[in-house]
Amino acid sequence: MQNQLSNPIGVFDSGVGGLTVVRALMERLPFENIIYFGDTARVPYGVKSIETIAHYSRQITEFLLQQQVKLLIVACNTMAAVAWPTIQDLSPVPVLDVINAGARTAVNVTRARYVGVIGTPATINSNAYARAIHGYDSEIRIFSQACPLFVPLVEEGWLDHPVTRLTAQEYLKPVLCHPIDTLVLGCTHYPLLKPLLQDVVGSGIQLVDSAEAMAEQTSVVLHGQNQENPARTLPEYRFFVTDVPLRFQSIGERFLGRTLPNVRVVKW
Ligand code: DGL
Repeated sequence: MQNQLSNPIGVFDSGVGGLTVVRALMERLPFENIIYFGDTARVPYGVKSIETIAHYSRQITEFLLQQQVKLLIVACNTMAAVAWPTIQDLSPVPVLDVINAGARTAVNVTRARYVGVIGTPATINSNAYARAIHGYDSEIRIFSQACPLFVPLVEEGWLDHPVTRLTAQEYLKPVLCHPIDTLVLGCTHYPLLKPLLQDVVGSGIQLVDSAEAMAEQTSVVLHGQNQENPARTLPEYRFFVTDVPLRFQSIGERFLGRTLPNVRVVKW
């Protein structure tokens, strides 16, 4: 099927967290139509097995391809880390993922060439960030840390809570033993903790927000392939979830920074 320029960009995540990427996309590409898929019935993925994550990722990819997307964005670091080949094999349209975008930014930002990476256990255990960073510069030293408690803390809305601060100090202690100057926020939820994390790591360390990096890369790819939507009308945003949308809507508005209309439930 021929790609139409007005076709939507498909963005997917294990739940609500990928809306940080949607938010960055809306700001960077304000005329693009977007379809978002959040697997709210099965989140979190970050503590599940590779087989399960790959199976779920396949289902979501097929769903979005049926919606005639012109580009797929894997907003979920965990899916990108362990299921990227599965998604890529299925897709006739270009697939972009947060890991590559975040890795590329980290390589451009670091002067010390010591980089910290934080993410879910599945993302960190996969070593996907280390591989992606070394694909650009094999001399960079990488120090990774899984932070499984951050996702529930963010979903709870404890963005500047003493418990979150203590948790961050504890998780980051081993990473901060090394002279890093860059810290990659390798999870959809972590951009919401940016002010707190910056405070904990200090101003000498630059935080890499993979959502912003993703939006920038999307813009470059669409422009480079002449795939930008030429229409200058209000874009259409559609949201699909797999569980009742109440919680998605209330938490999602915090992630998105605006109201969330047009949320539909997909029953599998
Ligand atoms: N979206 C996931 C990620 O970016 C975090 C939530 C989950 O564990 O499913 O890694």
